[in-house]
Amino acid sequence: MADSEALPSLAGDPVAVEALLRAVFGVVVDEAIQKGTSVSQKVCEWKEPEELKQLLDLELRSQGESQKQILERCRAVIRYSVKTGHPRFFNQLFSGLDPHALAGRIITESLNTSQYTYEIAPVFVLMEEEVLRKLRALVGWSSGDGIFCPGGSISNMYAVNLARYQRYPDCKQRGLRTLPPLALFTSKEVGKRHRPNPGLLILISSQLSRDLPGLLPALPTSSKASLPPGGCASFQSRSVTTPSRRELRFWDLAPTVSEWSRLMREGKWSPRIWRGRLVWPRLRLTFHFFETFILDSGAVPFLVSATSGTTVLGAFDPLEAIADVCQRHGLWLHVDAAWGGSVLLSQTHRHLLDGIQRADSVAWNPHKLLAAGLQCSALLLQDTSNLLKRCHGSQASYLFQQDKFYDVALDTGDKVVQCGRRVDCLKLWLMWKAQGDQGLERRIDQAFVLARYLVEEMKKREGFELVMEPEFVNVCFWFVPPSLRGKQESPDYHERLSKVAPVLKERMVKEGSMMIGYQPHGTRGNFFRVVVANSALTCADMDFLLNELERLGQDL
Ligand SMILES: Cc1ncc(COP(=O)(O)O)c(C=O)c1O
Repeated sequence: MADSEALPSLAGDPVAVEALLRAVFGVVVDEAIQKGTSVSQKVCEWKEPEELKQLLDLELRSQGESQKQILERCRAVIRYSVKTGHPRFFNQLFSGLDPHALAGRIITESLNTSQYTYEIAPVFVLMEEEVLRKLRALVGWSSGDGIFCPGGSISNMYAVNLARYQRYPDCKQRGLRTLPPLALFTSKEVGKRHRPNPGLLILISSQLSRDLPGLLPALPTSSKASLPPGGCASFQSRSVTTPSRRELRFWDLAPTVSEWSRLMREGKWSPRIWRGRLVWPRLRLTFHFFETFILDSGAVPFLVSATSGTTVLGAFDPLEAIADVCQRHGLWLHVDAAWGGSVLLSQTHRHLLDGIQRADSVAWNPHKLLAAGLQCSALLLQDTSNLLKRCHGSQASYLFQQDKFYDVALDTGDKVVQCGRRVDCLKLWLMWKAQGDQGLERRIDQAFVLARYLVEEMKKREGFELVMEPEFVNVCFWFVPPSLRGKQESPDYHERLSKVAPVLKERMVKEGSMMIGYQPHGTRGNFFRVVVANSALTCADMDFLLNELERLGQDL
C-alpha cells in the first residue's frame, strides 16, 4: 500500500527550497554570467572526454546527494562548459548574453508551461501573437500568421510542408505516395537544412537566383528516372560554384534548355569545369525551364527557398529577382532569414533583404543575431487562411476541445506537429521591452561596424587573406602563417594552408583564449569564419583576435 506520508523531498520544505535556489542562482551569477563573460577568464576549459567524465562523475546512483554536493555539481557543470556569452566566443551564429532575455528564460523555466493552449498559457499565447505581429510588421506584412518553432531547421521544414499542402490540400487524405515527385530549389550552403523533410527532390545550388533558371534542365537523366513518386532524392552533384555572387548575374549565365542539353550530351556538364574563375558564355535567359522540367521528368517544382544571410559566408540572395521567378511560375517563396532576419531592424542595412515582403514564408531566428537565447525561431507567414492549422492540425480532442468557455482560436497548439511546445516568446519580448526597436537597431549596426573594423585591420596586417569582402557580420579569411607567406605559387600552397586552421583551432581551444569556427567551403580549403554578433564586443576584442591568431600561429 502506498505510504500516506509525503515523499522526502525539498518540495515540502520551503526554507530549504529557497536556500538551494538562492545558492544556485549565486553560482550562476558568479560563474556563468560574471566570469563567463569576463575577458580575464577562459572561454572554455578543454578536457579530453575520458578525463571530463571522471571530473564530472556522471554516474547516477541509488543514493541521493547532499545540497553541498549538488552545488559543487552545478559549479563543475558551469566550469567545464563553453561560455558562449564570452566576448572571445566567435564560433557560432549565436553569442553574447542579454540579461533581460536571460531573465525571460529563467521565468519561462520556472513557470514550466506549454505554449499550446490559452487555458494553461494565457500570458504567453497573447504575447506570442504580439511578438509575431511585430516580426511580421518588420517583414512588411500587416497581417498573416506564424509560430515559434524549435529552431530554424524546423521553421524551414514547416515552410516546405505548408507549400506542399497548399499545392495539394488533399495530400493528407491521399497520402504522399499519390503525389508526383516534387522539386524544391535552395542554395548549396543551406541545402542540408531541408534534408530531413521526406518526399522531396532537392535541387541545391550555390547561387540560387543565378542558377535557378539553369538547374531544372540540367537534371541528369538517371536522377529523373529514379525519382520515386512523392519520394526523396537529394541532388547535389550538379551544383554550380562561382567566386562571388556579385561578380556574376544570373541573367548573364542562364543557358537555354537546348544549350544545357548540348553541354550534357557533349559531356561538358561536370562540376570541374564550373569551378574557379571560369569564363562562362553569356547565354540567353529562358523562362521555359519549369515547364520543360515538369514535362521531362514529371517532377513538380513547388518551392524556392532563398537565403538571407547564409551560414558560412553571410550572403544575401537577391530576393526581388527570385520573387519575380516565383511569381511567374506560381512557386511558394520561402526566405530562410534565420541568420539575417534581424537585419530588418536596421534602417541602414535592411536593404539587404529588399523584396522579403514578397515571400510566402520567412524563418527568422532571434536567438542568433539578437541574442535572445536558444531557442527562439519564428516562422512567419503571409497566409491568413489558417494554413498552418489546416496543414499540421490533428484536432486532439483532449487538448483542443471546441466547446471551451473561451475563444478556441487562442489555442495555437494545433498549428504545429509537436504536442507540448516550449515558451519561446518571453525572452524576446522582455529584451525588446528593455531595448526598444532603437536599442536593437543599435546592436545590429554596431555589429556591422565592428565587422568592418576587423576587415580593415586585417588588411593592414601581413598574414590575413580575406575569402571575400563580407556582406554581413561573417568575416571569412585564411590566416597565412609566416612559412607560407609569399608562397602562393607553390603547388602545395592550398593544401598546406588548409591545414593551418585546424592546428590553430586546437591551440586556441586548449588554451581557452578564444573560439573561432573554421570550415572548407566548396573548392576552398579550410578558412576561419569569425561571427561578429556579441553586442558586448569592442574594437579591443577585434584587435585581440588578430593578435592572438598571430601569436598562436607564429611558429607555423
Ligand atoms: C541560414 C540558416 N538557416 C537555418 C539554420 C538552422 O537554424 P537552427 O540551428 O535554429 O535549426 C541556420 C543555423 O545556423 C542557418 O544559418
